[in-house]
Amino acid sequence: MRGRREEITLNSVNRLAVNPSESAVLSPAPQHTCGTLTGPDRTATHTVPGWTAQFWTQQAEHPLQRAEFNSRLSSMMEVKRPELTEFRGVCMSHYFTDNFDNVEKFQARPDDILIVTYPKAGTTWISHILELIYFGKSPEVLPSLPIYECVPFLELSAPGLATGVELAEKMSSRPRLIKTHLPLQLVPPSFWEQNCRVIYVARNPKDNVVSFFHFDRMNFVDPEPGDWNSYLERFCQGKMVFGSWYDHVTGWWERRQTHPQLLYLFYEDMKEDLPRELDRLCDFLGVALGEAERDRVLRATGFEAMKNNRLTNYSTFDMMKHDISPFMRKGMVGDWKNHFTVAQSEAFDEDYRRKMKDSTLSFRMEL
Ligand code: A3P
Repeated sequence: MRGRREEITLNSVNRLAVNPSESAVLSPAPQHTCGTLTGPDRTATHTVPGWTAQFWTQQAEHPLQRAEFNSRLSSMMEVKRPELTEFRGVCMSHYFTDNFDNVEKFQARPDDILIVTYPKAGTTWISHILELIYFGKSPEVLPSLPIYECVPFLELSAPGLATGVELAEKMSSRPRLIKTHLPLQLVPPSFWEQNCRVIYVARNPKDNVVSFFHFDRMNFVDPEPGDWNSYLERFCQGKMVFGSWYDHVTGWWERRQTHPQLLYLFYEDMKEDLPRELDRLCDFLGVALGEAERDRVLRATGFEAMKNNRLTNYSTFDMMKHDISPFMRKGMVGDWKNHFTVAQSEAFDEDYRRKMKDSTLSFRMEL
């Protein structure tokens, strides 16, 4: 079965031929054929006009194997980091807007659960908790796919991966758990029309920006982060992919007033007392967990458990370079103290007070 056609920008076509154990054949430009990489049970073909290659990946395979294959493929290619662009007044990158026509038209179902966060606020954590609440009732039916396959990232459209919309549309599970980082105004209208449940997780901005900085160093789907000082400045100006942290957290906070189906959680509360927050979540969802199931969810969603779990630690996601910084990095509240200078912290607090003065939303910067 032939799969989806992908586009990817190559640093150098010649790099496709670097590994002698693979068959990577360069053929003449008129056919735009760059090479064929034959893996143990799959084939990718690259067609290259100039620096742009297209390739097909077979779809009907286990995603972990596919991830390994893609990883070898991407080591021969260099995915180009995107530029920060503006989209409808919000800073974005093209990986999250290329497929926006389809994102906007996405048809939510009434029992879909939308997981919303500003990047690095604990998306994977809450996603795994929800996965286990719904699909982890017994060890036999525990999730067996990486989290980015089980919980589609709605607006993502990146080389070598099915788009978030495609993944979500293919899902037969009920409920569908769908993740987004979109600010309130960009969320597809059908989620409101269908009165879907929304789980929002917010994290204090100082830890959020530190986590985002390290993530952008290792994640080649995001623009080049530059150094810490300039990164922090850009964060304060809202010049991040998905825009201003302030607009995001306050926009979704206000939405609670008109959408009672929205539960607003805090990373710090989850760190402080996960059993309590799990109970709140279950109350909101109307789910009753037995004691053994509840224990299983709590055990499996601790930081160390998720760090060591290949399905949740993104080690199979080939556009992340964990040797630069691991995805599951520290998982703590207050790590910002290891990054901010005293002057940076004071200036940040001043700016924070100004920007948050009209909001009833407040954050704990330490526990
Ligand atoms: P750090 O970089 O501060 O370690 P997201 O999933 O939104 O990308 O967020 C990733 C952040 O959440 C990372 O923060 C990661 O370590 C943290 N995280 C993930 N799982 C966690 C868990 N079970 N407990 C605490 N923090 C967790």
